[in-house]
Amino acid sequence: MRKYNIAVVGASGMVGGELLGLLESRHFPVGDFYAFNSGRRPDAVSFRGKKYACAAPTLSALKKADIAFFVSTDEVSGRFAKRLAAAGTWCIDDSSRFRLSPSVPLVIPEVNGGELKPSRKLVAGPNCTLTGAAVALAAVHRKFRVTELRLATYQAVSGAGKAAMGQLEEELRTYFKKGAVPAANGRFPRPIAFNLFPQVGGFDAEGNSVEENKVEGELKKIWGDKRIKISSTAVRVPVLRGHSLAVWFKVARPCSLGSLKKELGRTPGLKFYAKPGNYPTPLENGQRTEIVYAGRLRRAKTAANEFQLWIVSDNLYKGAALNSVQIAERIIKL
Ligand SMILES: NC(=O)c1ccc[n+]([C@@H]2O[C@H](COP(=O)([O-])OP(=O)(O)OC[C@H]3O[C@@H](n4cnc5c(N)ncnc54)[C@H](OP(=O)(O)O)[C@@H]3O)[C@@H](O)[C@H]2O)c1
Repeated sequence: MRKYNIAVVGASGMVGGELLGLLESRHFPVGDFYAFNSGRRPDAVSFRGKKYACAAPTLSALKKADIAFFVSTDEVSGRFAKRLAAAGTWCIDDSSRFRLSPSVPLVIPEVNGGELKPSRKLVAGPNCTLTGAAVALAAVHRKFRVTELRLATYQAVSGAGKAAMGQLEEELRTYFKKGAVPAANGRFPRPIAFNLFPQVGGFDAEGNSVEENKVEGELKKIWGDKRIKISSTAVRVPVLRGHSLAVWFKVARPCSLGSLKKELGRTPGLKFYAKPGNYPTPLENGQRTEIVYAGRLRRAKTAANEFQLWIVSDNLYKGAALNSVQIAERIIKL
């Protein structure tokens, strides 16, 4: 079997760590392996029982890879991914740098894997928040056409990286030691322990956050439908891992609850709980889980053609590392 030389840029980060574990556990045919970090401090990662020193990436070092995973920053992806892809290395980018570029496919394999083509070697993976909705409602959209989508998101701190996870743990430790949550220190706009806040990223002139705009733009691109009206409020919650979404969706074609249940029950990559008392939570369904979970489907009381659904997915797996590995698994079969 052919083996592929692999580079991971951001190997020492949250998503990087999960990516390495998944390449190993899913037996991806890795030949040589190269690990990159910021180079700001010495670091090493373990992969298949061996330690690899991390180094700052350079174009010539990255060119040794057949497939490069970018799980670091927008700036780093911007600096290397386009040139590297032009030189023939597949680049799978988890940053938001190229997600909305018309020439770059934005891919969730079970939803729009057909977008992967050997001629387009730079591929983007979507934002971790919309992944749950994109997977869960993909088949419903195809069959009944979703016209409007409203979301309230409940986003885990790991969505903001390794340091953000450390921030929640630190605030909790301080609370139990001193009896008070410390003031925000810049990592988040507000304290996160025993708190939540409706801000993920900065705000635009209309008052929408970066995250809310990403959800709208990226979901339209993945479903290939610019007509859908999407509005969301993105909220950071003191959960370590696993993003949750409360979703309201309107459909164009008449459909019963029964037909929706049937569609959700056979949607690829989704486990749908049909009984009202059965629903997913981030602690039970968002920790190293490979699929998206949904429950609490019901008619909304606001309009005859509107329904509600609760969705949970692992932001670090399906929202990032797993999706990227699944893209790589498809690529090597092209
Ligand atoms: N966390 C999620 O749920 C999630 C979901 C979807 C997409 N993403 C995207 O995935 C990427 C990584 O996120 P993360 O949560 O894993 O962040 P993280 O935990 O903060 O890790 C960032 C990684 O990038 C490396 N890095 C930083 N600056 C670099 C530079 N100039 N050159 C090379 N490497 C550099 C860091 O190396 P050092 O250790 O040396 O600092 C670290 O390995 C981001 O683009 C993020 O938007 C994250």
